[in-house]
Amino acid sequence: MMRIIIYTGKGGVGKTSAAAATARRLAAMGYRTLAMSTDAAHSLSDSLDVKIGGTRKNIEKNLDALEIDIIQEMETRWKEIEEYVKLFMLSQGMDELSAKEMAILPGMELIAALFHVLDYEKNNAYDVIVMDTAPTAETLRLLSFPDVSQWYMTRIYGLFKKLVALAKFTIGRFLDFPLPSPAVLKSLEEMNIKMAEVKNILQDPKRTTIRLVINPERMVINETKRAYSYLCLYGLTVECIIVNRMLPDDAGIGYFKEKLEEQKRYMEMIHNAFDPIRMFFAYQLPTEMMGSEKLDELAITIFGDSDPSIVYATESPMRFYSEGDKHILSLRLPFAIKGEVELYRSHDTSLIVQVGSHKRNIDLPLVLKNAELLGAELKDETLKIKFGREKKNG
Ligand SMILES: Nc1ncnc2c1ncn2[C@@H]1O[C@H](COP(=O)(O)OP(=O)(O)O)[C@@H](O)[C@H]1O
Ligand SMILES: [Mg+2]
Repeated sequence: MMRIIIYTGKGGVGKTSAAAATARRLAAMGYRTLAMSTDAAHSLSDSLDVKIGGTRKNIEKNLDALEIDIIQEMETRWKEIEEYVKLFMLSQGMDELSAKEMAILPGMELIAALFHVLDYEKNNAYDVIVMDTAPTAETLRLLSFPDVSQWYMTRIYGLFKKLVALAKFTIGRFLDFPLPSPAVLKSLEEMNIKMAEVKNILQDPKRTTIRLVINPERMVINETKRAYSYLCLYGLTVECIIVNRMLPDDAGIGYFKEKLEEQKRYMEMIHNAFDPIRMFFAYQLPTEMMGSEKLDELAITIFGDSDPSIVYATESPMRFYSEGDKHILSLRLPFAIKGEVELYRSHDTSLIVQVGSHKRNIDLPLVLKNAELLGAELKDETLKIKFGREKKNG
């Protein structure tokens, strides 16, 4: 079974570096590895210091790399749809050049990547695929969409709607437009079937896991907390966090003294938000993280000499589900002693949970924004927080 490791997180935190370092280490260990980037602003080439591009390329023993090129994917995978959009544009007297641009849906790089994954799995092409994904809200939405195929259909439908609106806007009245041909519909249908297969792979915790890369910085932590909640809400497994750009403890002079103190506060925020997820750390280097030597050093800093393809956890410590007429948020709190459980909300969607000396700060998904907090119980090292289903007014 092919292992799939997905690195994600806010821009600039070090996803590409972490993904490249992981892939290099795995290849060196003998795993047949593919490093794949779905970030439209590809930097895998820079990081690995090899020109990669939209076609798989072998760059080292056991190591292939691929940077999804969405135009190339459109011309192959989405040919029917692209051609239909082109026909549509022409029928409306619009430029066919913009058809390509129109047919690109947000998140499509990731979809294309996942379709590649399906192919590789069928051919047993790799032992591990390491994915470097874009830090967009769309990636997150796509990864955590309860029904990925629905995601796709919704986007295609949105595209058609956009086309019609655009036609009306530019022409001022409707001209006849071509209806999707049977070939287009068939292609959509095939896409749907594939999406269902993709979903099976994405939601298999023994195979696919998500690694969140963060920095000890307020904005990064806050944004990633939200991402974490949504990934948990939809049952994806966040198995570990990589805290990159840590300042070393002995940096404590002058400007760095204050920075270090700030970092301590941020580390506390990180623990409050993500414990007990497994955490790895990497230090801020004085120079950029580029090329094989630096990446191999990074792999050592993060993983020591352990195998980075290990599944560190098959379940996120936080889960959301429904039980009868209640919504439940369950939170694993190993080592928490039975004691007073205190719950309070700081903002609309922020929940603070205090159990003894353990404090958790959770960004609630929007569905729980107005839900009434009913209470909590601690059992088997797990805190179950109950919410009413009915929305409270005011
Ligand atoms: N620990 C680090 N020390 C020094 N430079 C780093 C470190 N981690 C990442 N970088 C550099 O920061 C920039 C952004 O890193 P990158 O891995 O591309 O982030 P992302 O993929 O999340 O946008 C790159 O120039 C990279 O070389
Ligand atoms: Mg990147």
